Amino acid sequence: MTPDDPQAEIARLSAEIEHHNRLYYDQAEPEISEAEYDALYRRLEALEAEYPLFANPNSPTRRVGGTPSEGFEQIRHPVPMLSIDDLFEIPEEELDKIEAKTGTRPPKEQELVDFYRRLQRGLGVEEIPVTIEPKIDGVAVSLVYRGGKLEYAATRGDGTTGDVITANVRTIRSIPMTLPAVEGVPATLEVRGEIFMPGEGFAKMNEERDEAGLPTFANPRNATAGTLKLLDPREVAARPLDFIAHGLGLVEGGEIGSITDFHALLDRVGIRKNEPLTIARNLGEVLDAVRRLDVERHDLPYGTDGAVIKVIDRDAQQQLGYTSRAPRWAAAYKYPPEQKETELLAITVQVGRTGKLTPVAELAPVLVSGTTVRRATLHNESFIQEKGIAIGDVVLIQKAGEIIPEVIKVTAKRGPEVPFSMHAHLGGGCPVCSGPIERRETVSGSKAEARTIVTHFCVSFECPAQVASRMRQFVSRKALDIEGIGSTVAEKLVERGLIRSPLDLFAISEDTLATLNLGTEEAPRIFGEKNAAKIVQARERAAKEMPLARWLFAMGISQVGESAARELARLHRNFGELATSPLLAELRTLKTGESKEKNALLAPYEIASEVGPIVAASVLDFFQSAAGTAVLARLAEFGIDPQSENYSPKPAEDTGGPGKPLAGKTFVITGTLSAPRDDIAARILASGGKVSGSVSKNTSYLLAGEGGGSKLDKALALGVAVIAEAELEALLAPGSAAEEA
Ligand code: IVH
Repeated sequence: MTPDDPQAEIARLSAEIEHHNRLYYDQAEPEISEAEYDALYRRLEALEAEYPLFANPNSPTRRVGGTPSEGFEQIRHPVPMLSIDDLFEIPEEELDKIEAKTGTRPPKEQELVDFYRRLQRGLGVEEIPVTIEPKIDGVAVSLVYRGGKLEYAATRGDGTTGDVITANVRTIRSIPMTLPAVEGVPATLEVRGEIFMPGEGFAKMNEERDEAGLPTFANPRNATAGTLKLLDPREVAARPLDFIAHGLGLVEGGEIGSITDFHALLDRVGIRKNEPLTIARNLGEVLDAVRRLDVERHDLPYGTDGAVIKVIDRDAQQQLGYTSRAPRWAAAYKYPPEQKETELLAITVQVGRTGKLTPVAELAPVLVSGTTVRRATLHNESFIQEKGIAIGDVVLIQKAGEIIPEVIKVTAKRGPEVPFSMHAHLGGGCPVCSGPIERRETVSGSKAEARTIVTHFCVSFECPAQVASRMRQFVSRKALDIEGIGSTVAEKLVERGLIRSPLDLFAISEDTLATLNLGTEEAPRIFGEKNAAKIVQARERAAKEMPLARWLFAMGISQVGESAARELARLHRNFGELATSPLLAELRTLKTGESKEKNALLAPYEIASEVGPIVAASVLDFFQSAAGTAVLARLAEFGIDPQSENYSPKPAEDTGGPGKPLAGKTFVITGTLSAPRDDIAARILASGGKVSGSVSKNTSYLLAGEGGGSKLDKALALGVAVIAEAELEALLAPGSAAEEA
C-alpha cells in the first residue's frame, strides 16, 4: 500500500500517534487499543524506512530506539538554570531549647515564615499569591521548543552550560516532540522540569538488574541520572523514565505573564505539569498547604522531600530578583524524613557481584512514608560497629530520599552488649560457597576527616554467587572479547557445573561446548558445533594475542576498571611483574590524596590518577590471596602469559620510537567522525597517545569531526591545535613522529 503523497502521510501518522501518546501518557485516557496503536506505529515505521528523506528526526518512532549518539555536546543555557534556597523544618529538640531560653516557642516552619516576610518587605504588600507544589527528586532538564518543535533537550550541568541529551529525551514518551498548534504558544519556549523514574518502575528495573548480575542503583534519582548519561538511546528507551514540567526558561515571540498562565499553556499543549498544585494568598494558606502536602506527598509516583513555594506574578518575580545562585522569589521547604522504630530480628549477609559481603537488617515490618519496610542495608561492619547494632535491638529507621530504608541508630538496647560481628557470624566462611573471607580496610573521606571502613569480601574465585557475573566480564568485548558467550551461555555453563571459575573456559573441551543444552530437559536447545568452534577460536586468540591490559580488566579485580588496567599495563610487562611490583607496594603506602609526584620512587613514572593507593592495594591483595595465586598457577598451566602492549613506564623520557608515534601527546575528540569514538581512541592509545574527555592547556590536539561544539570553542580559545581526521592519519602513519606535524 503506497500512498500518493508519502510525505503528507508520514506527517499525518506522526500527528495521530503524538495525539494518542498524549491521551495515554498525560491524560491516562487512551482512545484506541494497544493493538491499534501498534498498527499505526508500524505503518509509520515502514513508511519512514521506505522514504527516509521524509523521516523527521523527532518522529514518535525515534523515541523508542533512535541511532546511538556519540558522547554529549554542551550547550549554554539561554537563561541560567539556577538553584533554589532551602528552608528547613526546625527539629523538636531545637524548639525546646529556644523555648527554654526565650520563653516563646516558634513554629517549626519558622524559616518559611521568615521567607514569606522577606517577600512582603520586598514587594511592600501584605498578601502575595504563591504556588505550593512538590519538589521532585529527579534530574533537571531544559526543553527548548522553537516553532513548536523540540530543538534540543539539555541537562542543568553547572547551571550555565549543560549536556545536550536530545536523543535520550526523545525516548521519553510523555515529552512531546511537536507541540500542537494551539493559541498562545510562543515562538521560542523553554520548558523546564524534572526527569524521574517512578518508584515502581525503579524497583522492577533494579530487580531485573540484580538477577542479571548487574549492579543495582541506590535510588531512583541515581538511576535516572545514570540512564540519561547512557550513550545509546535504545538502552534509555528500555528504562522507565517519565517527565513533569515545573518551570519556565526562555520565552520569545509571545507573552507568559504568570505561573498560572504558564500552567494553562502546559495543559493546552499536553505537557504534564507538577501536581498537586495549591495557590495560597497569604501566610496562613501557605502554612496550611505545606502541611497538607506533607501528607499527600507519600502517594506521589516520585520521591519528594520538600515543597517548592513560588511567587506567581512574573513582574513581582523580577522585582524580587536573584542572588548569584538562586531566585529570591522561590524556596524549597524541606520535610524531615519520617522515622519509625522497629525491632531488628536478624542480620543476613548477601554476596554481591564483586564478592562484597553486605550485612542486611531483617526488620519487624513497619510502615514508613507509605510503604512497609522489612529490610535495610547495614552497609558494612564499620557501620554496625559505630552504631553498636546487635540482633534484638530496637532501631530507628527512615527512608533516605523517601525510597531506600536506612538504619539511623539503636534506640533501645535489647540484644547482646557486643555489636554484631561479621567474622563471628560467618565463622570465617562465605554464606554461599563457604570459601575464604577477606577483611579489607579502606580509608574514605577528606584528609581531615579520614575514616577507616572495614568491609568483607568472599575471595573465592569460584563462588557461585560471583562466577556467572565474573564470566560475563571475562568474555566481554572490552575484556577478552570471546564472542559467542553471552550471559545465557555463561549462566548455563555455571549452572551445569561445567565452569567454576572463568579460567575453566580454557579447560573445557570443544565437544562439551557443542553439546551444551541452553534450553530445558523438555525443550532442549543445543549450542552446536559451529558455535563451539567459534568459542574455541576466540579463546585461542585471547590466550595468544590479548594484551595484559585486557586480561587484567577481565580478571574483575575490585577497583580495576578499564582505564586503571591500561595504566597498570603501562607500568608492568606481565602478571608476574604486577604481583611483585615495588611500584604498587610503594603506592599503597600513600594516603589517599597524597601526591605521587612528591614520592621519590614514584615521581618519574607520572602515574595517572586512575591508579592510586586503593587500586594498588587491591591489585597486590588479589595476587597475594589464595584466589590470585591459583589464577597465576592456572595461567602457567595453560601456557598463557599475556604481555603488555603499551609498556612505557617512564613517559617523561619516552621519545616515541617505532610504533609509538603519539607518545606524550594528549588528544581530545569531538564531533562526528568516520568511526565510533571508542575505536579512534583505541588507535590513539595503541600508538602511545593519551585521550582525555576535556580540553585544557595540556591538550596537544583536538580531533574535531563535524559539529564539534563547545570543545572546539575552548580549544580555539586556549590555542590548542585543532586537527581533522586526515591529519590524525598522517600522525599515525609509520615513521611519523607527532612533533614533525
Ligand atoms: S522551580 C530557579 N519546582 O530543584 C527556581 N524546581 O530548582 C525554579 N526541582 O534542580 C525551579 N522540583 O530541577 C522547581 N517543583 C519544582 C521542582 C524543582 C524539583 C529541582 C530543579 C532544580 C532544583 C532547584
